[in-house]
Amino acid sequence: MSHSASQGGQPPTTPRGGKVAVIGAGFYGSTTAQRLAEYDIFDEVVLTDIIEGKPEGLALDMNQSRPVEGFETKVTGQTTGADGGGYEAIAGADIVVITAGLARKPGMSRMDLIEVNAKIVRNVVENVVKHAPEAVLIVVSNPLDEMTALAAKVSGFPSARVMGQAGMLDTARFSNFVAEKLGVPVGSVRTLTLGSHGDTMVPVPSACSVNGKPLAELLPAEEIEALVQRTRNGGGEIVALLKTGSAYYAPSAAAARMARAVAEDAGAVMPVCAWVDGQYGIDGVYLGVEAEIGSAGVRRVVERDLSEAELAALRAAAEAVRAKQADVASL
Ligand code: 2OP
Repeated sequence: MSHSASQGGQPPTTPRGGKVAVIGAGFYGSTTAQRLAEYDIFDEVVLTDIIEGKPEGLALDMNQSRPVEGFETKVTGQTTGADGGGYEAIAGADIVVITAGLARKPGMSRMDLIEVNAKIVRNVVENVVKHAPEAVLIVVSNPLDEMTALAAKVSGFPSARVMGQAGMLDTARFSNFVAEKLGVPVGSVRTLTLGSHGDTMVPVPSACSVNGKPLAELLPAEEIEALVQRTRNGGGEIVALLKTGSAYYAPSAAAARMARAVAEDAGAVMPVCAWVDGQYGIDGVYLGVEAEIGSAGVRRVVERDLSEAELAALRAAAEAVRAKQADVASL
């Protein structure tokens, strides 16, 4: 990223323009909307929810933070009805972030949400297609890889215009754990996770470093594995502590950065859930990989050299999510 969010009244370096919509005004959706507004690069952020008055109230509150934080982007809140009424508010959106769906409760896996969230995501996507047929979709609802595949199928959009948020979040969690373990700034740490947002998350030790030094030279293998395991369970650890919902600060930071990458159209490369068709010898599945992001979504999947073990794990992840993505099509 070439610049950070403008604050204190400084003009943004990206010209302000365009419209981004966030569907679902729970903690994940509302914090995403707020981050997007604070970037000050959009004309309008639209926040919708099915709970009467909630998105309107949150939007009012966010707009009142504008004089303090110094951003001009307007936030519009809109309740949507079961008949799709209210979705006109997202008309012409360039980017739609789909956060709608239930979050986990303690003891649940992301996969436990598949049936209920599939119905919600299907309904949302049908309405999005009617009002914002040119949008890039960024899906964050869980189980992530399956909901992204479902959104792509229901929308009929080109696969490049549908992606899911998970890799940025998992990678951020991994980096944070490494930084804490070694007592170094998070900015000095590079990590990478690919694969699914779940049990078949694939850490990529060969892409992990601290100040350019391979992580494997700084920590013994079993300590790296412990951090990987904590990353894999990163969402569940927070759910167990919160008891009434799931994480949203880091997830919203990741989703907002993806939307920003689309808006800036600068070809930022980030780990996302994208359509993989041929890369890494994997055919036709939504999977966590690195991708170059532009205004039309995924410009290309970026393939890197993986160790044999990493490649085998990525292919195993692909087969695990492929089976589930086939199931979800009928939900
Ligand atoms: C998480 O991992 C919400 O799936 C998200 O926290």
